[in-house]
Amino acid sequence: MSRQYYIAGNWKMHKTRSEAAELAKTLAGQLKDGQHKYLVAPSFTSLETVAAIVKGTNIRLGAQNCAAEEQGAHTGEVSVLQLKDLGVQTIILGHSERRHVYKEDDALINKKVKLALKHGFEVILCIGELLEEREAGKVEAVCETQTVKGLEGVSAAELANIVIAYEPVWAIGTGKTATPEDAEAVHAFTRKVIGRLYGAEAAEKIIIQYGGSVKPDNAAQLMAKENIDGALVGGAALTPDTFVPIAKF
Ligand code: PGA
Repeated sequence: MSRQYYIAGNWKMHKTRSEAAELAKTLAGQLKDGQHKYLVAPSFTSLETVAAIVKGTNIRLGAQNCAAEEQGAHTGEVSVLQLKDLGVQTIILGHSERRHVYKEDDALINKKVKLALKHGFEVILCIGELLEEREAGKVEAVCETQTVKGLEGVSAAELANIVIAYEPVWAIGTGKTATPEDAEAVHAFTRKVIGRLYGAEAAEKIIIQYGGSVKPDNAAQLMAKENIDGALVGGAALTPDTFVPIAKF
């Protein structure tokens, strides 16, 4: 496969600064000889601490969200300018917890995507269906809508900085993983959507990660599928014992 595997750890709302530092140091040591592309996304509060540790290593620094505006009266929000200042390289947007718990819609996510791209960030755009949507046969419709609306106004040149993460919502944090075959079907479909929007070459190049209960014992089977190019890992990203084997699958 010409695409490089990309394994990302989303630490969500876990870890104090000292805990984050310990994990980042261990990962920096253990992934030094890793063959894939890597990222960790700590909480905002630990970004500065982790930035100092991963700087100059093969681990990128990610944030889990950003505001849709550059600055202003937005209590509790964090701006792309502030993230850039900390050395953040990548921003995860449209995570299912942002969509479903914090009610971010496609229009808001799209605004954030465009702002992040404008400031030179790589964006991991998360898409994925709810269980009831899967049961109603709407997987493709949901993933297509989230992809098309999330990328509205994104140019072909900017697409080079987009990674898509397919994360079926029912598989996140539940221990239920999509079968490699089910995941592959959605990845292949999503790549087709990208092809329709941006052409065959862009579709061939774009990295599509899978997320949702990725563990050391299922990572290799998922990654073996033609259209699965990496993983966005939550729970298993919180300890080196589980993240390193995934990262080195
Ligand atoms: P999980 O989370 O690995 O704990 O299922 C994945 C994610 O939310 O990105």
